[in-house]
Amino acid sequence: MLHVAIIGSGFMGKQHALAYQALPEATKLVAIINPNPKNAQPLADELGCGYFPTLKEAQQEIKIDLVDVCVPTYLHEQYVLEAAQAGCHVLCEKPVTLTLESFDRMVKACEDNGVRFMVAQVARWWPEFIDIKKRLDAGELGRIHMIYEKRLCQLPPWATWHRDPQKSGGGLYDLNIHDIDFLVSVYGRPRSVYATGHKAREGAWMYVVTNLAWKDGVKATVETCIDMPGPWPFSIEFRGAGDKGTLHYNLQAGVNIKDGEQNSNYTWYPAGAEEPKALGVEQSDMFKAEIAAFVDAVANNKEQPVPLAESRLVLEVVLATLQSLEGGGVVTL
Ligand SMILES: NC(=O)c1ccc[n+]([C@@H]2O[C@H](COP(=O)([O-])OP(=O)(O)OC[C@H]3O[C@@H](n4cnc5c(N)ncnc54)[C@H](O)[C@@H]3O)[C@@H](O)[C@H]2O)c1
Repeated sequence: MLHVAIIGSGFMGKQHALAYQALPEATKLVAIINPNPKNAQPLADELGCGYFPTLKEAQQEIKIDLVDVCVPTYLHEQYVLEAAQAGCHVLCEKPVTLTLESFDRMVKACEDNGVRFMVAQVARWWPEFIDIKKRLDAGELGRIHMIYEKRLCQLPPWATWHRDPQKSGGGLYDLNIHDIDFLVSVYGRPRSVYATGHKAREGAWMYVVTNLAWKDGVKATVETCIDMPGPWPFSIEFRGAGDKGTLHYNLQAGVNIKDGEQNSNYTWYPAGAEEPKALGVEQSDMFKAEIAAFVDAVANNKEQPVPLAESRLVLEVVLATLQSLEGGGVVTL
């Protein structure tokens, strides 16, 4: 049984807290940590766990095995380092951090202290994306002609720090990273990246279109915006066209992913066929699945589902995209 403390009590802190509580055999949520009690005590009361202003104060009173970092991105490194030095395994929300130097310091701190460290890339547990990856891995589309991924939403109304390039990195880091992580998990290191987009007045790239190419000829376009003007619905799309057909997933949620009804369709269009085939995928809670997989890796000393080498590569691709956006043209990786 792993005793878990969550640092940060906003949108993601609550999602993760509920996921740990849905795994009562394997984990016990013991603390919510946040220097500001107004932002955290109500959640701790609701969940029936302790509230502490700091990890140090929590550890003076209770045992903590795993720390889950759910604070704004610019605070990730400080808490990952503190948790590692305190001897706790660490799960950290995406984007893990904004630079490779910062990522390497986090990995070193965890290695030096003999604790596990994983980046929470939840889209890997999105039921349709699990199925898409299986089909791509099995070569069901044949030779790939083109992949297109889209993730467009309004700025999360609860967050005040997303426009600040130093605090969140904007849509380039915050949202684009889900699709880059997915493509890296399937195809590995891209050979080149070329991007164009819209930079907000505050300096962060909020709308980004990235073209990626891999050595074996696979090409993908990823379109991301975290600041869609108007009442735009949270929408996600995957389209893979290959010799054997086209695989298409399309989701349109409410204003935010957590709101409203979700319209989605997942369809296979076989090459040469008259009719498309609707695909059904069993739905499941992706946060619970992600956390269960990390907890299993920690508790049973197994390989973790999101390898650190892949998380570093994803950050390299995001940095190459930034270089391209800033006038670097086609960037080779
Ligand atoms: N996986 C996903 O799909 C997903 C979705 C949304 C956000 N995120 C990521 O999760 C992280 C948190 O985002 P969020 O939407 O929950 O943000 P949020 O603004 O809703 O919550 C941040 C929390 O951190 C707390 N906090 C601020 N300063 C702190 C400090 N110094 N010490 C401790 N706590 C502090 C705030 O009080 C708040 O409770 C970000 O890195 C974000 O990119 C991931």
